[in-house]
Amino acid sequence: MEALEAIMTRRSVRKFGKKQIPDAVIEKILKAGTYAPSALALQPWAFVVVQDQNFLREVSDYVRPIMISLMKDAHNGMSDAFRQLLESPGYSIYYDAPTVIMVVGKTGSRFREIDCSLAAENMMLAAHALGIGSCWIGSTEVAYGNRELMAGFRIPEGYSPVGTIVFGYPEENPGVHDKHPANVTWVR
Ligand SMILES: Cc1cc2nc3c(=O)[nH]c(=O)nc-3n(C[C@H](O)[C@H](O)[C@H](O)COP(=O)(O)O)c2cc1C
Repeated sequence: MEALEAIMTRRSVRKFGKKQIPDAVIEKILKAGTYAPSALALQPWAFVVVQDQNFLREVSDYVRPIMISLMKDAHNGMSDAFRQLLESPGYSIYYDAPTVIMVVGKTGSRFREIDCSLAAENMMLAAHALGIGSCWIGSTEVAYGNRELMAGFRIPEGYSPVGTIVFGYPEENPGVHDKHPANVTWVR
């Protein structure tokens, strides 16, 4: 798949098959992450690959009710749809994806969030090109303050979380969608 095609056709996927992604394919996705640009070429990221479904369910069960209460006053199309999802029985914030990758950044590194987000997008695009669906799961943030639970992610010393992305073989095809045109200012 060409780069532009991958960019234009990637969608967030929220329904996955149970089949695990082979390690060799996960390695390719991780490698694509490390090829992202980073300030001063510091590559201040590390990746935690989580495939323990019991642990992911535990994190989801902790996050879900907090998210529901945080979103109780948000009312627009997207929030209503997301709240409905959160409230549906058996819902996991990780959509039961077989693999979840947490991108963690070197604590204190000046551009860690930007660098790690670039790595994350590279991984999502690479996954898409390899026939694997993904979705960034911001809701994990709700658990960051729970040290006991977060210990389960086994984040290496000196790093802290930037984002969590689910990966798996898609069982839905959300289809290409239109994006709002950007507000562009040309200076020339
Ligand atoms: C920082 C960030 C946090 C997100 N958090 C969630 C989330 O917690 N749950 C979810 O289902 N999707 C989440 N998403 C996915 C967005 O909803 C999705 O990217 C957006 O609706 C655009 O759709 P697309 O990715 O298919 O283009 C998140 C995306 C980003 C960039």
